[in-house]
Amino acid sequence: MRTNSNGRLEIGGCDVIGLAEKYGTPLYVIDEQTIRNICKDYKSAFSKYEKVKMLYASKALCNTAVSSIVASEGFGFDAVSGGEIFTIYKSGADMSKVLFNGNNKSFDEISLALDLGVGRISVDNFFEISLLNELAKSKSVDILLRITPGIECHTHEYIQTGQIDSKFGFDLSQIDEAVELILTECENLTLRGLHAHIGSQIFETKVFSDEIEILVKELARINEKYNLKLDEINIGGGIGVKYTENDCPPSIYETAEKILTSLEKAIEKYKIDPPALILEPGRSIISTSGVTLYTIGSSKQVPNGTKYVAIDGGMADNPRPAMYGADYSAFIVNKEEISLQKVTIAGRFCESGDILIKNINLPNPEEGDILCVLNTGAYNYSMASNYNRVQKPAMVLVNNSQSDIIEIRETLEDLISHDVIPDRLKK
Ligand code: LLP
Repeated sequence: MRTNSNGRLEIGGCDVIGLAEKYGTPLYVIDEQTIRNICKDYKSAFSKYEKVKMLYASKALCNTAVSSIVASEGFGFDAVSGGEIFTIYKSGADMSKVLFNGNNKSFDEISLALDLGVGRISVDNFFEISLLNELAKSKSVDILLRITPGIECHTHEYIQTGQIDSKFGFDLSQIDEAVELILTECENLTLRGLHAHIGSQIFETKVFSDEIEILVKELARINEKYNLKLDEINIGGGIGVKYTENDCPPSIYETAEKILTSLEKAIEKYKIDPPALILEPGRSIISTSGVTLYTIGSSKQVPNGTKYVAIDGGMADNPRPAMYGADYSAFIVNKEEISLQKVTIAGRFCESGDILIKNINLPNPEEGDILCVLNTGAYNYSMASNYNRVQKPAMVLVNNSQSDIIEIRETLEDLISHDVIPDRLKK
């Protein structure tokens, strides 16, 4: 985002107010070049290690346009549902670079993954070993074993995943039983390595070192005990981003340095051949590429209290503040930052908890002003709902002064398109 010579704000070379006028609000705007630059940063930060594979965690934002951009940067995908797999397939991506992951994949989803040629399945639990074995009768399937490394990182409780009491993956004490089951009863399953993910929006790099130590140690132990040659470790995603001035995440380069140094040490310590290192960043790839534009409507001054300023969106297009107490930064696009007032940005949904930003300083916010919320690329659209039967916003992709719709704004007809009135209720 930058200010042009006429003092107007641009994103991807497109006038921000112009985007709001042309496409309406709320509007998700995604800057293609930012995604590409971050993908390139990831590749260059890890370039020292030859056997690195990047998978974009689609759950952060999944649609055909974004999938085709990250695929064209050489990334594969971490997909967690039939819907994500189908979207990635429809974007034309190389399905052999897709890993299917999740704690309760259905029979239909696994069948779809196998039919569409997904390259790896991360097996999460004993039930899934037998389900997959049943489905893999006619073809061989490469799998990873998802393990719970027992690492707690300092992030919101709901987005921690690597701690011992977690719904994801095999406990360290269950690994051998799982490996033995795969080796003795699952002829068509080929175990290629281990997978873990410790959490999201992580600001400390040490937890990645701890995770790598555990993954390499277990890989070496399994190879030795069962005379195998497992050669892949997948450390998941989780690298944090800066939502507000209070956030200080390490750069991709700093994180890469820590990860690669720890990996080298662990390889030496446990005397294994360098394994393939798989990463699954989601938020850190897509978050900063996105902003959401809203129009300010009503406002309310509580006597001697809060001034609420309401926007035309809220918790249905960005549930993160209501769910996790997540903080965002925002500004008014059409006004200079003078005579600031402390206000609270309220959403339009029928819930008191639908507050997007508490106590933010804005220049005299009034009806018709365009509010731009930063860093909304990750886990906004992908977690959006139709709460209160409100249509989901449109999404535009901007690049080189061009804007293209990549998600059409839902219509009222879209909202009822799956409704059915049974005949017996019809008069
Ligand atoms: N790999 C696995 C196995 C995951 O479970 C996740 C995220 C990722 C990779 C990507 O993590 P990232 O790089 O995006 O941190 N809805 C929450 C975030 C949930 C993350 C779930 N797993 C939020 O809005 O903060």
